[in-house]
Amino acid sequence: MQNPIIAALDVPTVEQALALAREIAPAVGAFKIGSELFTAAGPDIVRRLRETGASVFLDLKFHDIPNTVAKAVASATRLDVQILTIHTCGGLAMMRAAEESAQRTALQSGRNAPLVLGVTVLTSHDANTLAEIGCEANVGRQVERLAQLAVQAGLRGLVCSPLEIVQLRQLLPANIQLVTPGIRTGAEQADDQKRTLTPREAMQAGANWLVVGRPIYAASLPRAAAEAILASLN
Ligand code: C5P
Repeated sequence: MQNPIIAALDVPTVEQALALAREIAPAVGAFKIGSELFTAAGPDIVRRLRETGASVFLDLKFHDIPNTVAKAVASATRLDVQILTIHTCGGLAMMRAAEESAQRTALQSGRNAPLVLGVTVLTSHDANTLAEIGCEANVGRQVERLAQLAVQAGLRGLVCSPLEIVQLRQLLPANIQLVTPGIRTGAEQADDQKRTLTPREAMQAGANWLVVGRPIYAASLPRAAAEAILASLN
């Protein structure tokens, strides 16, 4: 089994990100770079991590007109990231443009296309906030609708909350990769994640990848925390 742990490097500087990555690399399968780190450190942090041989998940959740998203995906593909995210509410044409751009740019650059993941309904949304922005107020139905649209557009994976894994596994083709944040081991302090599963529960429910942030980077011993999560999966 590949190591399914994606460690979120949710830290503000290149130095902190590289030090954390060096420490936990043997115990994780990939590193996630989000908006905080990318906005501070730029594409250089991606290159520095790729130089170490690590797989990189660039989580910038692109959402724009199809042409702009296609060009952003092309830039990310040339940076040689292995996974990236776009918003499914950008619509069918935007998602198609993103996937086609990933495939085309990878072919031109002689590398594998990154896995373009669709983000459906943010876990910070509930029925009230969906109604506020004029969407289907039932979160589950909106997730299903966007997930099916993503598959129709040719995406090969989705980000989903731990509690959506079972529902999406029943609905979607088996080859769709499901990546889930909201992972908690029970050992850490309660924080803003409300809908959580343990790493083992999420894998058993059908996740392919687990995004783990604070349970690793905020632990007193991040390497030991990552190793314990990996051991809990075997
Ligand atoms: O610290 P924690 O384990 O909660 O970090 C989860 C990571 O996954 C963060 O980088 C967060 O931005 C991201 N994420 C999330 N929920 C989503 C999508 C992404 O927590 N729905």
